[in-house]
Parts: sequence; C-alpha cells; structure tokens
Amino acid sequence: MSRALLIFLAAATLLTACSQPEKPVADHGWMTEPHRPQFHFTPTAQWMNDPNGLVYFQGEYHLFYQYYPDSTVWGPMHWGHAISNDLVRWDHQPIALYPDSLGFIFSGSAVIDHKNTSGLGTDQAPAMVAIYTYHLMEGEKAGRHDFQTQGLAYSLDRGRTWTKYSGNPVLPNPGKHDFRDPKVIWHDASKKWVMILAVKDHVELFGSTNLIDWKYLSSFGEATGAHGGVWECPDLFELNVAGTNDSKWMMLVSINPGAPNGGSGTQYFIGHFDGNVFQSETTETLWLDYGKDNYAGVTWSNIPAEDGRRLFVGWMSNWQYAQVVPTHPWRSAMTLPRELALKRTPPGLRLASTPIHELNSLIQAPETLTPVLPTGSSSSSEYPLPAGALLEFTVQRTDTREDVELELFNAQGERVLIGLTGAVNQFFVDRTQSGKTDFSTDFPGKHVAPRAMATKDVTVRIWVDASSVEVFADDGTIAMTELYFSTQPLDRFRLRGSVGTQVDSVRVSALRSIWTK
Ligand code: FRU
Repeated sequence: MSRALLIFLAAATLLTACSQPEKPVADHGWMTEPHRPQFHFTPTAQWMNDPNGLVYFQGEYHLFYQYYPDSTVWGPMHWGHAISNDLVRWDHQPIALYPDSLGFIFSGSAVIDHKNTSGLGTDQAPAMVAIYTYHLMEGEKAGRHDFQTQGLAYSLDRGRTWTKYSGNPVLPNPGKHDFRDPKVIWHDASKKWVMILAVKDHVELFGSTNLIDWKYLSSFGEATGAHGGVWECPDLFELNVAGTNDSKWMMLVSINPGAPNGGSGTQYFIGHFDGNVFQSETTETLWLDYGKDNYAGVTWSNIPAEDGRRLFVGWMSNWQYAQVVPTHPWRSAMTLPRELALKRTPPGLRLASTPIHELNSLIQAPETLTPVLPTGSSSSSEYPLPAGALLEFTVQRTDTREDVELELFNAQGERVLIGLTGAVNQFFVDRTQSGKTDFSTDFPGKHVAPRAMATKDVTVRIWVDASSVEVFADDGTIAMTELYFSTQPLDRFRLRGSVGTQVDSVRVSALRSIWTK
C-alpha cells in the first residue's frame, strides 16, 4: 500500500494499538451477515489483509494474517491466526503477534526448525519460527528510510503462544525505504535458510544457517518483470514441470499498483536458483490470476513430502478499494486455497491454479442439467443457482471465434457475466452491473484474461460464493478471482453462445457452509 496511506491510517490509531491487552477475537456468531463468504476464510470481525506465516505442522494448517483488531480499515498490524485440519474449515484463534516497540507486525512467513538450527527449540520439539517485518511508524514519520526491519518470534506449543526473539531485529535495515515481507525457505542443496525480501522495485535474497544471522546473497528484478508499482510479498519455491522429471524454480512477486486489470496483482517468474542467485527464463510478464482480487498470495511451508503439493492462498481484495467494500463487521476474505502446478502450453510454461481437492467435501446435491445450450440456440433456459455453488461445464465450439457467456443474475437485474470472447481469445468477468459498485470507481468493469491455449473446446469451473466468483479454465492456466456485492443473492443463471457453440451439460453443485457446525 502507498506510504501516504500508511502514515495517514496508522497515525490515527497508533496509541490504541500499542497498549497490548490480550484481545480475544470477537465472536459474532454464525457468520451469516450480507455478503459474508460461506466457504472462504474471513475473520469474524475487523480488518484483514495478506496471508502470513503459512505453515503445516503436526496435522494442522496454520493461517496467520495481517489483522487490525480495532477497525474495519487498515491500521497497526497484528498477526491474526486460524487453524485447520483440511484447509477448508477454520478455527479462529487468539491474535498471535502484537505490535511492540520495534513497530507494527507486517507480512512474513513461518517455518519449522526441524534441526533446531536456531537453538530456540529442542531436537525433540522443534520451534515454529515466524519471520516478519517490523514497521516502525515513528521512524517513517521522522523521514528515516530504515523503519522496516525483519523480526523473529517462535512458538514451542504448535503455534498457540509466541515469544519474540530478544535480539530483534534479526535483519536490520541498511537504509532502504521499502524492505519487507520476508519469505523464508529451507534450501536443501546448500543446507541453509534462504530469505526472499521485497525491496521497492526488486527482491533481495539473504542466507542463514540459524534463522538469526543473515547474509546478503543477491538481488533480482530491477530490470525484469512488471514495475507499475512497489514489489511486495514474494515467494520462492521449486516446482515440478507437470508430466516430466524436470523442475523449475518459481518466484511470485505481488505488485501494487500495476496489475493487468488495475491495482494489485501477482506476477511470477520461472527460472533457476542455485541457493544464491535466481535467474529467470521468462521473457514476458506472467500473472498468476487475471481477476482483480487475488493479491499478496504465498504458499504453505513444511507440507509433507508424501503430500508434495504446492499450496497457495491469496488475499481476495485489491488495495484500490479493499477499505471501502460494503461489508460489516469484517473486511476481506482469503481466496480458495489452490494447488499450483507448472504446465506446458503452446507459448511456454504457465503456472496453473486448481482449488484443492479437499473442497469437494463441501459439495452437496450435485445435479447435472442437460441439454443446456444446444447448437443453434443462442441462449439457454434460466436455472436456479444455489447460494454457494460450483458450476462445471465444457463449451464445444465449431470455430475459435465463437463466444460464450454465463450470466449469474437476480430479479433485481444485478448480474455478473463470465465468458470467453472468441475473436481475441480472452476470458472475461464483467461486474459492471453487479449491484453495489459505487463505493469505488475502480470496482465496476469488465476484466480480461488472455488464454495461453487455442483450443476450441473449453472446460470451465466456477466457484460462486456470497460475494466472489473464482473462474478456472484451461487446466488452471486461466484463473480469475473477482468480488461482487449484489443487494440480493444472485440466484439464477443462464448461458448464451454464438450459434455453433454447444454446452451439453452443466454440473451444478450446491456447497455447504464452512461455518455451520
Ligand atoms: C501488502 C502489504 C505488505 C505489508 C502489509 C502491511 O498488501 O502492503 O507489503 O507487509 O501489506 O499490512
């Protein structure tokens, strides 16, 4: 987010947040307010942004997140916390990290120190170690450049309680204005920890043998990739090339503003990493998700080798309007958790996103509608859309110039359009008339995603929650995540297509809420 905004918001609330009583997360009951996502993670109340500290340990997935417990807009940051056994149903936990004299607790990551390299745990009981950015408001206001440093905290009780390391910060600031969002990984080949840090318009890599003493390794990105805004929340991991024995190193870098459809977005690089230097093979700018609402996403650490998945979650909003969306008493949700894979497409390797299979446990009453859009007709009948739904269908086209469009709508005339424009081979989500849109001029609009594939047939899966749609197509190489705020539920759908376009069947699955016990 912009520096001016940070100063403005934080100055107003600094005093309240630095007194640190143990604050339980407010319990607002059954999570049924208007627009409340029913199968996406939200805090019960108040402000949330980036996912932080994603780590799996002893049967539990941890989700920490940027949290301001005193308001529904951004303010002095804490780490909120939730735990899940399946990445689908979450238990809200007490706040994990509070601001202290070194600053607010900005984004960061968590690892399990299995070998007790830090000496903070024991060999039998390894420490869960969080490394995060301290943002010292007083330093920023005084016009200094070194107000962001990296701190460490650890937990010896499976993430329930946290102790800040007494020697914080573990990585002081050498005088760089934006110096934040550490993602720490274990690099097995060089037997060391590697930290990737966002530094204004590039990332910097640091190495450590004990998580405490960090040494600069290299920089990447000043002259590569998108530069429409500040670089934030990077990630670095190795990923198998699907269907081969090859692997590549992937770097995710969120950028705000500068995303292809405006505001916040996440670009990625495909390349090689030797433990010290990252080299990109990518020549064009690649985006993880073309929707406007998937930002600051990173992946879980310590996923067991027998699972082997690379699991991702993003913040389902955009800094252009995140603080004014019409929800109460909370603001922001996370995207669905997704498995990332690297797939070959005609123009080259692409990162593909697929919602995790655990979400299938939410499916109830799947129904197959048939025939929905026979060839020769340009519009289908109207069908009921359950509140919380997965829609799955394959579009068969006789020509790649043919269009198809799915309309989710209600009796109030509000609608979200999702489709494929054949002539330009682009997917789109159009939320121009989706209900409440006037809270920001950046919200309404038609947003597009270029396809890497050129096939005539297209398989689409769309997850519709109370205030979001997530569109996946072409084996996950198309992902579009978009919010909407209709005044009444979008409770019907229909399909339209060019003559020649055919949809034999649509599978409609009602999804149960993750919040009902
Ligand atoms: C990204 C971000 C991070 C920062 C955090 C502050 O959305 O701006 O760079 O650590 O949010 O809440």
